[in-house]
Amino acid sequence: MNATCSSTSSAQMRVGIVTGNVEVAPDCWRLEIRCPEFARSATPGQFLMLRCRQGLDPLLSRAFSICDLIYEGGEPVGLVVLQVVIGVGTLALTKRVVGEEIGFLGPLGNPYDLGTPDEHMIMVAGGIGAAPFLYVARFLRARSAEQRLTYLVGGRNKDFVYLADEIAALGCDVQIATDDGSLGHQGYVTQLLDPLLASGVRVLACGPNPMFKSLASLVEQKRAEGLEFACQVSTEESMPCGYGACAGCVVPLRSDNHPDGFRYGKSCVEGPVFPVEAIRWDLIRSIH
Ligand SMILES: Cc1cc2nc3c(=O)[nH]c(=O)nc-3n(C[C@H](O)[C@H](O)[C@H](O)COP(=O)(O)OP(=O)(O)OC[C@H]3O[C@@H](n4cnc5c(N)ncnc54)[C@H](O)[C@@H]3O)c2cc1C
Ligand code: FES
Repeated sequence: MNATCSSTSSAQMRVGIVTGNVEVAPDCWRLEIRCPEFARSATPGQFLMLRCRQGLDPLLSRAFSICDLIYEGGEPVGLVVLQVVIGVGTLALTKRVVGEEIGFLGPLGNPYDLGTPDEHMIMVAGGIGAAPFLYVARFLRARSAEQRLTYLVGGRNKDFVYLADEIAALGCDVQIATDDGSLGHQGYVTQLLDPLLASGVRVLACGPNPMFKSLASLVEQKRAEGLEFACQVSTEESMPCGYGACAGCVVPLRSDNHPDGFRYGKSCVEGPVFPVEAIRWDLIRSIH
């Protein structure tokens, strides 16, 4: 097996080696890729565009968060992708076998702004929106052993709650919500957030657009009550290219300079992380 990955162009096209690919929950797979130069440059909240199969079908790569890094002797040598099977691309990824080459582009996009260790960091995940938070939590814990970290995770039922044990093992407070009450609080993950909001906290969120919409209205309400805190969301719009060439990933962004009060921004290059107040949630597509 090739011990390192190669970069096929000056920037970010890479070829790594699959070192693991296992189903860890129903239709949810953990894919490990060895690629030290990618791992050394990745920051929490960034993503990559993965070639799901070798060959040209499907033509377009698919976007995935950097879920975690793999370390050897304390050095980052690879990455983990946590992926849920949705359609042709994600199904093809489940067939990837250990030892084969896998092409990808990245790291891409703007990471989360992780603020300072004196802030109470609250990570809010809906469904597979959990994926970026293992690396976020690991990074934060390495930065400070004392910082208060909370992970709020929601899913349809107990089978769709991801990374709770792994993130708890890093010394984070974990609270769970499920739609059907099969695990944790019965209801939405934003209901767990409400009592924790206070001035000086920092909220990082990733999940489906309906979750972001209720998060945005909760944040607006709390700020109207006088609380001051930062809240960033990582959007998961479909991304045909991932590097700004196609405009398939646009989101409506508030803009006083435009007559309609908004403009479209490419979430792959301007995001995927945005302050929650930057997005016009009343205009966002609700396909997820
Ligand atoms: C920045 C970013 C990070 C992401 N991180 C992860 C991750 O870590 N793990 C993970 O499992 N997924 C992640 N996704 C979503 C992932 O890219 C899609 O699930 C994947 O592209 C679907 O490809 P497919 O070929 O299997 O499905 P397709 O055949 O392309 O689509 C099948 C159906 O699913 C719908 N669909 C397409 N994209 C999405 C989506 N994002 N959400 C819901 N429905 C969709 C389509 O409209 C279509 O109806 C991320 C997306 C973005 C933009
Ligand atoms: S995915 Fe093509 S411009 Fe963003």
